[in-house]
Amino acid sequence: MSLTDATIAELHELAGRYPQSRSALLPMLHLVQSAEGNVTNEGIEICADILGISAAEVSGVSTFYTMYKRRPMGEHHVGVCTNTLCAVMGGDVIFERLKEHLEVGNDETTEDGKVTLEHIECNAACDFAPVMTVNWEFFDNQTPASAIDLVDKLRAGETVQATRGATITSWREAERVLAGFEDGRADEGPAAAGPSLVGLEIAAERGWRAPTAGDTKKASTSSKVEADSKVEAVEKADTSRAETETKIEESPADTAKEGDDD
Ligand code: FES
Repeated sequence: MSLTDATIAELHELAGRYPQSRSALLPMLHLVQSAEGNVTNEGIEICADILGISAAEVSGVSTFYTMYKRRPMGEHHVGVCTNTLCAVMGGDVIFERLKEHLEVGNDETTEDGKVTLEHIECNAACDFAPVMTVNWEFFDNQTPASAIDLVDKLRAGETVQATRGATITSWREAERVLAGFEDGRADEGPAAAGPSLVGLEIAAERGWRAPTAGDTKKASTSSKVEADSKVEAVEKADTSRAETETKIEESPADTAKEGDDD
């Protein structure tokens, strides 16, 4: 497959959105994935040409970040968080069950091309552990049974909604959104809910608030004053120690001892 003229025009459009065009590389790679199903050699060459950088630099970026894929992806990317908290809350078991159920290993795609399974690192959703993602939409508080039900629905082509409301599209469509081309679905589902808001509720009940910029300035001024007075105290202590030492050196006992020696 080759990148179409329309996609190449969109890559140019992305490059033009930034004062330094090379800043567009990350969204451009997402667009290449959306168009071709992964970051292809052709995509790397075209991004490099447009940005005036080397193919090696583009390749270096695309192999550094795990969201860029060098192998063809399935229709859906299914991620299972196996980072510490999710792992102990059941993520490891979910991942093992899904591998058996889908008959794939990590980073592999099912024979029907529907699901690519990957174990992923902490998604900053630990308060909903164990979490999964489908095309980067969250599925909170999962169990092995709910995970298997989810992938079965995806493979059957059923409409699936993330637990926070978003309707699941395909991985390629999600990649196009990540590239910076909106699909009009940004407001589907709440941005934050449940456990994520508990801290805020407790703070509201107790009248706690985040420090303002003014508080921070005051705090840094008072800690500077405190530090200055500590320095002053240390200097005073040094001076008085030096004075004491001088007195000891010049003490009458020493003078008398010197006289005895004579
Ligand atoms: S450990 Fe899974 S989201 Fe943080």
